[in-house]
Amino acid sequence: MHSEEIRKKFLAFFEKRGHKVVPSASLIPENDPSVLFNTAGMQPLVPYLLGQKHPLGNRIVNVQKCVRTGDLDDIGDNRHFSFFEMMGNWSLGDYFKEEAIKWSYEFLTSKEEGLGLDPTRLYITVFAGDENAPEDIESRALWQSVGVSNERIYSLGADDNWWSPGDNGPCGPCSEMFYDVTGTVGELSKEQFVEAVKKEDVIEIWNDVFMEYEKKDGKVVGKLAQKNVDTGAGLERMTAVLQGKKTAYETDIFKEALEKIKNDRPKILGSEEQIIKAERIVLDHFRTVLFLAADGVVPSNKGAGYIMRRLLRRGIVYFRKISFVYLEHYAQLLDVCVGFYGNIYPELKAVKENGYKIIFDEINQFQNSLENGLKEFEKLEKRRFWGINGAEGEKMMIILGQDAFDLWQTYGFPIELTIELATERNMKVDVPTFDFLMKQHQEKSRTASSGMFKGGLANTNEKTVRLHTAHHLLLAALQEKFGKQVKQRGSNITEERLRMDFVFDRKITDEEKKELEAQVNTWINEAHPVVRREMPLAEAEKLGAEMEFGAKYPDMVSVYMIGKSDDKILSKEFCGGPHVTNTKELGHFKIQKEEASSQGVRRIKAVLE
Ligand code: SER
Repeated sequence: MHSEEIRKKFLAFFEKRGHKVVPSASLIPENDPSVLFNTAGMQPLVPYLLGQKHPLGNRIVNVQKCVRTGDLDDIGDNRHFSFFEMMGNWSLGDYFKEEAIKWSYEFLTSKEEGLGLDPTRLYITVFAGDENAPEDIESRALWQSVGVSNERIYSLGADDNWWSPGDNGPCGPCSEMFYDVTGTVGELSKEQFVEAVKKEDVIEIWNDVFMEYEKKDGKVVGKLAQKNVDTGAGLERMTAVLQGKKTAYETDIFKEALEKIKNDRPKILGSEEQIIKAERIVLDHFRTVLFLAADGVVPSNKGAGYIMRRLLRRGIVYFRKISFVYLEHYAQLLDVCVGFYGNIYPELKAVKENGYKIIFDEINQFQNSLENGLKEFEKLEKRRFWGINGAEGEKMMIILGQDAFDLWQTYGFPIELTIELATERNMKVDVPTFDFLMKQHQEKSRTASSGMFKGGLANTNEKTVRLHTAHHLLLAALQEKFGKQVKQRGSNITEERLRMDFVFDRKITDEEKKELEAQVNTWINEAHPVVRREMPLAEAEKLGAEMEFGAKYPDMVSVYMIGKSDDKILSKEFCGGPHVTNTKELGHFKIQKEEASSQGVRRIKAVLE
């Protein structure tokens, strides 16, 4: 069955059962600044789920365009797409579980009006119950009444069977439908079922959400004024199942586009697997970019525009790998996509009429800076840094997060390109720091452009960055108290605490711990700036900056200094960063534990509160 037929059948089936067909809303949410894109069919319908009257009545059917860009690294496997279409039927305070389940089953299995799937290959999950809502025995009974055997209905917890779009808004228990794509699975215990899903022998194809609850700040706070049904079936996934393919990339949806690029001669003869992954990234990203352009998004450095820019450039980076003629083919891919979807989404035709201008301006701009950026990268390569690999604490040659960020800001290098170039040269990129700087940059530009400030943004990286600066202060306090011979021997920072090992040959008394804490807190309160300087190694050594024992440093090094003026430096350490810009950002410093680490080496764990 062609994807188009699935779409048409879905709409017709529910139209016949009293639903009004509504066109897809824009990918960009109109009334919800908390999300960049519509990530599920329900998003544009939230006001109606909360009780507002929908102009077309209380039964709706739609196919909603969605963009999810959570983890771009997943793109290229069988199931993840940054753009997809979600088919859904909606009861806005009208019918509830009985009709929803009956119709889901009928649409899936009916040969005439539905998809004609084999009922003996279906599996169902229902909500197992928790403190927010009881076990959904009603749905279990309803599935049995339409003909699913009780052994094929599994009760699962909230992780699997409670659907909510985020921390706020309508939500509820859900019942999911799964299909055995191998045709050989048969009866399964609950454990075997979970295993079969993991192995992708059994695939989730549809989700009926019984939306009668509401979440606020991450907590279910009670019931909504009305009981709603929100169902969602991904068109790409359903098409793959019906066409007997492991992935939608092998269905009619991508067929023509794939053919266009299949004949390209691989530039880097990677493994078959690498080439397929690159192809899929190209196929996925160009499509999302086109749909975003059609909804008026323009590549930029923030928000939806930034995601678009990143997808476009990432797509080009991968396209370069598999094609000599990628620019020419990029245009062909766009044409194929407009041809395929143009009648359903006329906005795509409009983009084409304007000559895909936005997209090619961006590509051209990227092409220009690519060359210069590559030259800049060569310079970085010569200026290697030893660094600590984040949580693992392993030592390696790194491209500093700051440098990766500069490459992005000045030359438009997407982080994927920097990583790719680094990997070719056996180096790693400090991605967490890049992400941190990027986020900081985006927050700044958002604040600047809208005059808004959003509180409560502290995230993992910000916490570790603060602890990192506290780490420098602690070393300085130890040296101030016990002398310069107290050298650092190791460090490890998590989101919760810092840990420092240092050369010292006895236990530190409670009294001394208090004094160390007081010293660090005094410095925090004195609000000292934290500054990064790059300088020749010899100069840094002359300054007496703290080095790590046994580390080899390059000719140019980065040194972090804390202090109000050059003659009042509290701390100077060889370090790649990142750090806060002023000690006053740290909060209150507290030592949690002091213990022996090894002979002559003590260990302190400390937190910021
Ligand atoms: N909102 C649910 C989902 O996205 C059903 O549409 O899975």
